[in-house]
Amino acid sequence: MTKEDSALIRGLEGVVAAETRLCDLDGKNGRLAYVGYDIDELARKATFEEVTYLLLYGELPKAAQLDAFTVALTAAREIPRELTQAFRLMPKATDPMRVLQAAVATLGMSDPDTTDNSHAANVRKAIRLTSQIATAICAHHRVRSGQEPVAPAAGLGHAANFLYMLTGQRPGGAAVKAFDASLTLYAEHELNASTFTTRTIVSTQSDMHSAVAGGVGALKGPLHGGAGEAVMRTLMEIGEVASVDAFTEKALAAKRRLMGFGHRVYKAGDPRAAILRGMAEQACRESGQFQWYQIAVKLHERIGGAKGLIPNVDFYSAPLFYSLAIPVDLFTPVIAAGRIAGWSANIIEQHDDNRLIRPRAEYVGPGRRAFVDITKR
Ligand code: CMC
Repeated sequence: MTKEDSALIRGLEGVVAAETRLCDLDGKNGRLAYVGYDIDELARKATFEEVTYLLLYGELPKAAQLDAFTVALTAAREIPRELTQAFRLMPKATDPMRVLQAAVATLGMSDPDTTDNSHAANVRKAIRLTSQIATAICAHHRVRSGQEPVAPAAGLGHAANFLYMLTGQRPGGAAVKAFDASLTLYAEHELNASTFTTRTIVSTQSDMHSAVAGGVGALKGPLHGGAGEAVMRTLMEIGEVASVDAFTEKALAAKRRLMGFGHRVYKAGDPRAAILRGMAEQACRESGQFQWYQIAVKLHERIGGAKGLIPNVDFYSAPLFYSLAIPVDLFTPVIAAGRIAGWSANIIEQHDDNRLIRPRAEYVGPGRRAFVDITKR
């Protein structure tokens, strides 16, 4: 397509590419709701299981529905033995997001509904993937650390079981609440790059596992979910509160891109960051690592003051996850463990009312020219 015929929108900024019943993202006023429920209330009052149910079925579950859903999630926690074996064969230093992408693709090889894109099969796959992704992240981490994977504990909820499978220790109530709310805050966010990727993949009538593997690949990048790990590395680079000013001065002079700041849609503030800030304060204080929260707050003030940039969801989740003893390179897999709820709900929406996603490109290469034989080039 030529320049004259096209209206190029770089990065598809502001382009509306789908209808959705899942997520109402009001960037102007910094508000976010899932299926009508404000994110703040969901994070405080609902469990991740309830939020996942809401995204998959369109309503919050009644008690009996939640019980049945929890049974289904719990029953799906085991991963195939071959996958754990594959983890043992992978290079120990491999990035856990690369491993997770391979794990999702591998799970697609044994899922009984892999190629069935019907609504009912997609819901079944969504439930299995939600549970299995959590188990796969933890099992791989244990294997790469030279430890045996911890079998899922049937009596624990999704968040508590994740922390248990990661460490082998039963987590405390405050840690479980903070982790559970984090999964909720990451569960869904409209057409972010990874969710758009999953929709694009299934728009070809491909299947959920292929789409989620693609979503993991998109989430991994530092401009998307990978930002959280980068935030923690920045906080560590700064090291102490007294060094924030010098760091900020240098970073601004170098025009450095500061991870965890800025957002394509939220310009006044990311509502998730405000919630995570409170949770990070409490968790850092309780874990005896308050310095990470203090460094983050001062950096927030300095960068906000100097550049007007807002902290996004990945900013305060970094000190929070760190104080929950989650290894830094597992921050992005943890985001995937939450976002699987939104990815699968979006995949279902796309499959249920599909049209191939196929945008155009503006051609800026050379004009038409005569082919030159290889002997004359
Ligand atoms: N640090 C420094 N400058 C920034 C930043 C930042 N984090 N974010 C935006 N800017 C500046 C940018 O340099 C540009 O300035 P200028 O117009 O002078 O060139 C201006 O703001 C607009 O930036 P942009 O990159 O065109 O904005 P965008 O809407 O394409 O980018 C973003 C959004 C999230 C990619 C960007 O803010 C960014 O790179 N942030 C850091 C990475 C990050 O935290 N990503 C997580 C995003 S939210 C969670 C998620 O998606 O998972």
